Amino acid sequence: MIPTIEWSGRHIRMVDQRKLPSKIDWYTCRGYKDVIKAIQGMVIRGAPAIGVAAAMGLALGAHCITAKSYAAFIRRFKKIAEEMLLARPTAVNLRWAVERMTGVVENMGGRSGGDIKLALRKESERILAEDIETNRRMGQHGQHLVPDGATILTHCNAGSLATGGYGTALGVVRAAHENGKRIEVIADETRPWLQGLRLTAFELMEDGIPVSVIADNAAGSLMRQKKINLVITGADRIAANGDVANKIGTYQVAVLAKTNHIPFYVAAPLSTIDPTLKRGEMIPVEERGREEICQIGKLQVGPSGVCVLNPAFDITPAKYVSSIITEKGIINPPFIKNIKRLLEM
Ligand code: MRU
Repeated sequence: MIPTIEWSGRHIRMVDQRKLPSKIDWYTCRGYKDVIKAIQGMVIRGAPAIGVAAAMGLALGAHCITAKSYAAFIRRFKKIAEEMLLARPTAVNLRWAVERMTGVVENMGGRSGGDIKLALRKESERILAEDIETNRRMGQHGQHLVPDGATILTHCNAGSLATGGYGTALGVVRAAHENGKRIEVIADETRPWLQGLRLTAFELMEDGIPVSVIADNAAGSLMRQKKINLVITGADRIAANGDVANKIGTYQVAVLAKTNHIPFYVAAPLSTIDPTLKRGEMIPVEERGREEICQIGKLQVGPSGVCVLNPAFDITPAKYVSSIITEKGIINPPFIKNIKRLLEM
């Protein structure tokens, strides 16, 4: 699998996900503002990948700070961190990564700029490596929920490309496959960005895991015909009560799954849980541009001037979620109690 993001000398390079699968193109970030632009413009996307990119972006930003004192260094660093925080609002992994990087600077009071820059670079490398390891652990826990011969529906792309590598929802799929289970995946195409068609199908085909793509609106009918055994998605933020923010369309998949008595699993690292928010309605949902709905590529297909609503995420209430798969194990309902317990372990 092509790496989602990596250091290339003093720069960061990421595979340009807007162009996949037709072209494998590298997008180079020479400064932290390039990273912010890449996150906002969907060059890199997916909650854990956004977190990793933010951490690396802060290390890159810190590299250019020319401060004479520690106080001046941390002041400048925090300004960059504030800018980074605004890149995209829904995935809490971004805030998690910014806080972790800021912690490094705060713990190095009085040290030289050179020392802090090196520590930040190392921390960003650790965050990337840990993310991959976390996904592998999540995969091992989650694969126990996947029976041999299962057909799994997934929405959006929660794969290697949405993370540092291996994936969350697709990490579970990969682990089941690696454990010899004969599985098939049905990928919702995931309008408007087509992450399911362009990225999930691409990743699974590369791994030799059977995959079929469906139009988003075909999921309900297939469930009713008993052609789907379980659903696994990723998450952008999980509230303390287990409500899940994920790609727009996830909510309707979850409701359909419950109606058809199909388990609906969410695979996400603990960094996606936001214990500061009690309920899902408190999660900020990004609204994106009208052109994403009205255009296909550069071609305008909608009537000029038509009103458009384009929420990029939705909230699935916890009552539709069967279990949350994390790197520390599987969280079952009641979520308020069990999420708290796992976070405190
Ligand atoms: O807008 P995107 O492509 O960043 O949305 C991505 C998703 O909604 C994913 O399902 C989520 O981030 C989990 S990725 C492991």
